[in-house]
Amino acid sequence: MATLRPAAARPAATRLLKQTTWCTPRPRTAPSLPAASLLPRTGVRYKSGPYGYTQAKALVFSKYGEPSDVLQLHTHSISPSLPNTSLLLRALASPINPADVNTIQGTYGAKPAFTSLLGTPLPSAVGGNEGVFEVLSAGPSVPSSQFKRGDWVLPASTGFGTWRTHVLVENPERELIKVDKQGLTPVQAATVSVNPCSAWRMLRDYVDLIDLSVKGFASGRARGGAWFIQNGANSGVGRAAVQLGRLWGLRSINVVRARETKEETEALKKELMELGATVVVTEEEFLERGFAKRVKEEWTDGGREEVLLGLNCVGGANATQLAKCLGEGGTMVTYGAMSKKPVALPTGLLIFKDLRFRGFWLSRWAKNTEAKRKTIKEILGLVRKGEFKESPVQELRWDWDTEEKVLKEAVQGTLQGFRSGKGVFVFGET
Ligand SMILES: NC(=O)c1ccc[n+]([C@@H]2O[C@H](COP(=O)([O-])OP(=O)(O)OC[C@H]3O[C@@H](n4cnc5c(N)ncnc54)[C@H](OP(=O)(O)O)[C@@H]3O)[C@@H](O)[C@H]2O)c1
Repeated sequence: MATLRPAAARPAATRLLKQTTWCTPRPRTAPSLPAASLLPRTGVRYKSGPYGYTQAKALVFSKYGEPSDVLQLHTHSISPSLPNTSLLLRALASPINPADVNTIQGTYGAKPAFTSLLGTPLPSAVGGNEGVFEVLSAGPSVPSSQFKRGDWVLPASTGFGTWRTHVLVENPERELIKVDKQGLTPVQAATVSVNPCSAWRMLRDYVDLIDLSVKGFASGRARGGAWFIQNGANSGVGRAAVQLGRLWGLRSINVVRARETKEETEALKKELMELGATVVVTEEEFLERGFAKRVKEEWTDGGREEVLLGLNCVGGANATQLAKCLGEGGTMVTYGAMSKKPVALPTGLLIFKDLRFRGFWLSRWAKNTEAKRKTIKEILGLVRKGEFKESPVQELRWDWDTEEKVLKEAVQGTLQGFRSGKGVFVFGET
């Protein structure tokens, strides 16, 4: 991404005009935009200062800590003379994922680069890794066949910093993935690249469940597709896995935490069943002694249809039980640690069942941009056809005058359990 002009470095005359001109939205000729129903619920907003400078805000951090302590809303301006090959983007929507919070806390596997590019008092990084942006303008050397005004783009790799109203991207071909926006809402496009891609890869890259299904049917013994089991089944990844599993003819055992009332728990179970889950149980039922026996007797034909893939994003006793449900030679893929408890395994599972324990990290897989591009395209195709539903979200509107405190609180609340939906910043009048 390009070096930007900090607000402090603007010409004095420009600075003086800030209050009167820059903070007042000035409608301009409307560019070509998607159909109104596909827009975020916002007005058209084009914030421009004198000499065409774009006024931008970003949620940045300069040291690790709790989001409410270390995040700051930083204002800067972006010059209208774009470098030859660059693009100026405005944000449409950007989710707040658990990994984003871990990154700010300094506990994530990848550390962001703290830079002075935005002119912050201390070198900083912009929070957020996922989101969709719209192209506002392109440098003179960018062919319109490649990127043009109104196109929608996603970050190609992690560390992009998506919690910002605008961004200048110097090497768009390398840094961005263009998506066909037809038939999509900004929230659908903004939430495709982390959770659905993770679910897709974990179901396809560790155990060949499709091949197992085919063999099962060929033998005449299987009563359905191959099984997988997962905890955190109502998470974004979990819901994606349920739906992809259904589309690929797989069967799934899904573990969720009980809600406050029985009715709410039943409603959550029903929701997942409607998405395509085969079995949904609460963590309480799952942790009961003899659950692995129940898997055999109730669902997997006395264990003849083995469960050979387990997806774990919780850890602790939940992960141990998940491993106990796997058949001989099965694989448990760990991709999260929501309970913050380690994965502990009885030795017998290793010796007598020869289980395999693997880890999945999207950032590692996403280094292969081509593979990521392809998977995103496939998932968005399913979304357009109505075959894949995005997870429930809590939209958090980010306007020009949205206070720093409101944005920080939205991030801080992300790791709290029992949420009704994932927080997603939806950019309005910025
Ligand atoms: N390794 C990777 O590349 C990768 C990629 C994507 C996601 N992830 C990880 O996958 C996990 C889910 O991410 P997401 O974005 O899909 O999550 P999400 O939609 O924000 O949902 C969070 C999930 O975690 C559960 N949870 C929260 N606290 C918990 C606790 N103490 N014990 C058990 N479950 C708890 C929630 O259950 P309740 O509703 O009951 O609270 C919910 O199912 C996270 O750990 C995330 O970091 C990893």
